[in-house]
Amino acid sequence: MKRRQTKLSDSLSRTASVLASGMLILLMMGDTLHGQLIVAHRGASLDAPENTLAAFQLAWQQGADVIEGDFYLTKDRQIVCIHDENTKRTAGVSRIVAQSTLAELRVLDVGRWKNERYTGEKIPTLQEVLATVPKGKRIFIEIKCGPEIVPVLRASLARGELHPRQIAVIAFRTDVITASKQQMPHIKAYWLTSYDKNKIRGTWSPSLEEVLTTLRRTRADGLDTKFEPAVVNLAFVRRLREVGMEFHCWTVDKPSDAAQLQMFGVDSMTTNRPEFIRRELPTQGLYDKLDLHLKLDGDLKDSSSQHRVTSFVGRTPRFQRAVWAQGLDLQTKNGTVSVHCKLPPTGSICMWYYARDWYDFQTVFDNSADQNAWECWIYETGELRFRANPEGAVVSHAFHPRGDVNEWHHIAITWDRRDKTTRALRLYVNGHLSDSAGWKPDHWMTAGNQLHLGGGHRRNNPGIGMWDDVAVFRTMLRPADIRQIINGGVQSLMPLVPPTEVLEIRARSE
Ligand code: G3P
Ligand code: CA
Repeated sequence: MKRRQTKLSDSLSRTASVLASGMLILLMMGDTLHGQLIVAHRGASLDAPENTLAAFQLAWQQGADVIEGDFYLTKDRQIVCIHDENTKRTAGVSRIVAQSTLAELRVLDVGRWKNERYTGEKIPTLQEVLATVPKGKRIFIEIKCGPEIVPVLRASLARGELHPRQIAVIAFRTDVITASKQQMPHIKAYWLTSYDKNKIRGTWSPSLEEVLTTLRRTRADGLDTKFEPAVVNLAFVRRLREVGMEFHCWTVDKPSDAAQLQMFGVDSMTTNRPEFIRRELPTQGLYDKLDLHLKLDGDLKDSSSQHRVTSFVGRTPRFQRAVWAQGLDLQTKNGTVSVHCKLPPTGSICMWYYARDWYDFQTVFDNSADQNAWECWIYETGELRFRANPEGAVVSHAFHPRGDVNEWHHIAITWDRRDKTTRALRLYVNGHLSDSAGWKPDHWMTAGNQLHLGGGHRRNNPGIGMWDDVAVFRTMLRPADIRQIINGGVQSLMPLVPPTEVLEIRARSE
């Protein structure tokens, strides 16, 4: 579990300034949020043999938006789907694809190397792969050979069923991109590149300027880049967007990389594990669902425009260093903080909390609706409880009775008032689901207008401790959202660079 750091590091201040400039761009360009397309790399190739019909079918089952496959021209001018120029790795038999006929390649088994249950998978033709693409989905056709394939590809696509908007050509070879745009201007083409580091000078090649020059020269519609964090940063993405380029990335198998790219507003991310990456991606547009955000970074300003009223009760709160900057520190039972905020019918509240001691009924937060509703408190045994209403809907978590004091813990509570049948009240501690409960009919209690940190009701025992990054959302956060907030703060939910174009895929019949 990630523990909270106690100092404000330089890198975090840099992140803050990056976020600030991202916000500026967002304001300048308008709030055009969209989702990232999930591209199944060689199909769902973590689970099924790459570049086979089984892998592509599995990709669709796993909810991919796009499939990516690698293609060569055979000796008899057929287009086949395979990654290597030689069949040895996936078929166990060595044949040069460009020097073999389709019939010679079709006798090979390219499924068994992955798993016995895929025995019998053949090298598919382009037409067979295209036929798997459902309405509204796309394919990235990666050309692994030279531009001699383009006229054959053009004829093949013209014969096929897919709408040009469902297709993009991708290639590392610039002559393939140039030929593709010359011969099929109506089909998008993205140039692929990775980067090499010069060990002496520490520079990366190609440079950003070289990338932009290549994109212009080939008339590419965008870049499909290897995710190399040393190169693909905010400045890089901003320049690409400034010149109107699409921005796609491969191969993204780690949730942290996917979340970073989502913040950059990437158009698509190519992954070997589409289902997993989709599940691990924070909810798109979550920042728009933010009702209240108390950053508590040294002052008590409410960062949301809707809620400006913040009042101190008792002594002026002090501030202590926490992960991003400083948090609210209530050192006696006299201090509480009240914020004008009504908890929504479907929503979430999350915060970092640091207890110095466990004592009975210490209040983490409560609400002006009722002294026994919408309150979160801790017993001297270290048991945390949240109660949505006096009649029930309680969730709890047992902290270690001695070990968990004097540490930051992330507490998130999510609820859906409309959902009375499922367990719609959930408590997450440090990113893990700790408890859940269901509503009983008619047990809903409308929250009051004031949210109190440390306790607002006279009969509730005020909490002593520290709070930070307190946020209320108008939606139920998902586990991936909570992990993102824990790792990057609430502000990290805001995309840094919005896309220039929202891809709209229409069904074939339209
Ligand atoms: O999507 C681009 C990516 O597939 C390029 O790398 O080697 O997997 O074809 P590779
Ligand atoms: Ca590929």
